[in-house]
Amino acid sequence: MPIRYEDAREALRGRPRRWLVTGAAGFIGSHLVEALLGLGQTVTGLDNFATGYARNLDEARAGELDGARRAFTFIEGDIRSLSDCRRACVGADVVLHQAALGSVPRSLDDPLATHDANATGFVNMLVAARDAGVRRFVYAASSSTYGDHPGLPKVEDEIGRPLSPYAVTKYANELYADVFGRCYGFETVGLRYFNIFGPRQDPEGAYAAVIPQWIGQLIGRKPVYINGDGETSRDFCYVANAVQANILASLVEDPAAVNQVYNVAVGERTTLNELFELQRKLLAGYFPWVAACRPSYREFREGDVRHSQADISKAQRLLAYAPSHRMRDGLEEAMGWYVRSLAPVP
Ligand SMILES: NC(=O)c1ccc[n+]([C@@H]2O[C@H](COP(=O)([O-])OP(=O)(O)OC[C@H]3O[C@@H](n4cnc5c(N)ncnc54)[C@H](O)[C@@H]3O)[C@@H](O)[C@H]2O)c1
Repeated sequence: MPIRYEDAREALRGRPRRWLVTGAAGFIGSHLVEALLGLGQTVTGLDNFATGYARNLDEARAGELDGARRAFTFIEGDIRSLSDCRRACVGADVVLHQAALGSVPRSLDDPLATHDANATGFVNMLVAARDAGVRRFVYAASSSTYGDHPGLPKVEDEIGRPLSPYAVTKYANELYADVFGRCYGFETVGLRYFNIFGPRQDPEGAYAAVIPQWIGQLIGRKPVYINGDGETSRDFCYVANAVQANILASLVEDPAAVNQVYNVAVGERTTLNELFELQRKLLAGYFPWVAACRPSYREFREGDVRHSQADISKAQRLLAYAPSHRMRDGLEEAMGWYVRSLAPVP
């Protein structure tokens, strides 16, 4: 029987470990740092600030007690450099590997940069972690691995052809992790994230994710564009659920649960039109003018899958994963942060 999240957290409080979080200055990585420090763990963060920010680390550490200051070490380094990976892995019991260049469109614009960070960087991290005696390597995989497989909901062992260079790199991660398990007995767990969202996700730039981008545009009175007819759907998953999955995957002891990949999502589907409506309603409580905003529709985006929804039963069964937030709960919880962070200073 896998242990429940509450029990996993108690177990950690009683027996601290040394963690390496790569991509620590990014959106998901900074939430992992925050959660681990809150559980009294010793954490090293590795990041090259390609898409991450020092302010994310500051926020992640804001709740730390004075005595916990020594519990966090930051290394500015690059996973494309094997020596940086080796330096970061020294002494780590568990690696939570998040560093990568996200975004399907970015990978279509610059496949080499995506390959270097996501594929070469991943193998560097595997080698460095294996050689340093790391006991468990949990990594950010992606729902993009389902590619053109038409089945819904998505089940872990039924995938199609990748639809973008980004998806190729994320699938290659799973293949390498599997081989490291079989060839070197190295313990890995892959977490196929489905559209994770929450505070600190970057709203800026051409490659921003839809939730923070639209909220920023609505607050800033800028036009919101929906790619396609708005009936494209996603299994939007609040970041607290991703944190939970990482901690459970790090602690699970059942050998059948290790060297596996898991969907990390809620198991529900929201269309872009529904998402826009919900954001408009929640934001209108803060900014009345938002109630009158309407989206504009434009071409479908290359490389995007039409529908995405996870079957989360494997993670429920083998990891005792139980998402704490449905999509709406997460949006409500994060809204205060979006408003504080994205509203123009008067
Ligand atoms: N957010 C999602 O919905 C989602 C979905 C599927 C998979 N993922 C994966 O989850 C992970 C975290 O994503 P995120 O949303 O937090 O993105 P993010 O861009 O906020 O975080 C990624 C972090 O990795 C760092 N990084 C990039 N290249 C690096 C390099 N060469 N060396 C060191 N650090 C580097 C960036 O600076 C950034 O801080 C990524 O692997 C991403 O592919 C995210």
